[in-house]
Amino acid sequence: MAFELLTLERTDDDVAVLTLANGKVNALSGELVAEIHAAADELAAAPPAAVIVTGNERFFAAGADISQFGGPEEAAVIGPRILESLDALAALPCLVIAAVSGYALGGGCELALACDYRIASDTAVFGQPEILLGIIPGGGGTQRLPRTVGVSVAKELCITGRQVAAEEAHRIGLADEVVAVDELQDRAMELAVTISKGPRVAQAIAKRVIDAGAQTALADGLRLEQEAFVEVFRTEDSQIGVKSFLENGPGKAEFTGR
Ligand code: COA
Repeated sequence: MAFELLTLERTDDDVAVLTLANGKVNALSGELVAEIHAAADELAAAPPAAVIVTGNERFFAAGADISQFGGPEEAAVIGPRILESLDALAALPCLVIAAVSGYALGGGCELALACDYRIASDTAVFGQPEILLGIIPGGGGTQRLPRTVGVSVAKELCITGRQVAAEEAHRIGLADEVVAVDELQDRAMELAVTISKGPRVAQAIAKRVIDAGAQTALADGLRLEQEAFVEVFRTEDSQIGVKSFLENGPGKAEFTGR
């Protein structure tokens, strides 16, 4: 599909880079949200080794397009549309990395939260400022934020609309790493390329079990892990990895992705 409000590129290392390009502030308009969903569907049909989601240097994304808001009828359309597109991205069977520079507010913060791992530039600013509009997050913010930073911090952020800069975001676990702004894209790509050399099926199984376990009781999650532990030994890469270790030592396996 041809995209107009984002670019989707794939490197020689099979890393997909999804870059939001909707005007200056990357507002998550209905049109951009539809393109994000279409991009996620395209990636799901032929999964890359890893995905990087990014914006421009000043705006990762300034949130839902406020000019498209109306009343409850519009909200009943806008909310599910954003949520479903972010869920499609989150469900990809590979690590989805958010490379966040500048503002990640509202739906922008929710987009970053839907990613598996967040690398922030030292200029990044996160927040759920919906409350300042008299509304609440509608793209997963009240659910993914507390699961990431804890219930009390999430309540404080959603109820005050306070924005947090990169260092605080890192301290509360909202950003997993902070790097200098001019190193952001290189660091995200470095991580993605490292992952691209790993055993893809095992990576996908690890993500799947962690995500499933996060929604269940510990005992159920541990049972899921046991099933997946057997499943992963059916992959070609598990045989390659174990054999390579026994013959050559750690970290030298050349995986096939099967
Ligand atoms: N939806 C629609 N338009 C938005 C927007 C959004 N989420 N965020 C910013 N814009 C628009 C502004 O209205 C402004 O439009 P204009 O140039 O026609 O006046 C333009 O983008 C630039 O915004 P501005 O506020 O002038 O830039 P800034 O650098 O001073 O501040 C922000 C940037 C992101 C901090 C500020 O615009 C802001 O707080 N935006 C709203 C964020 C928000 O509440 N998101 C959650 C939505 S539910």
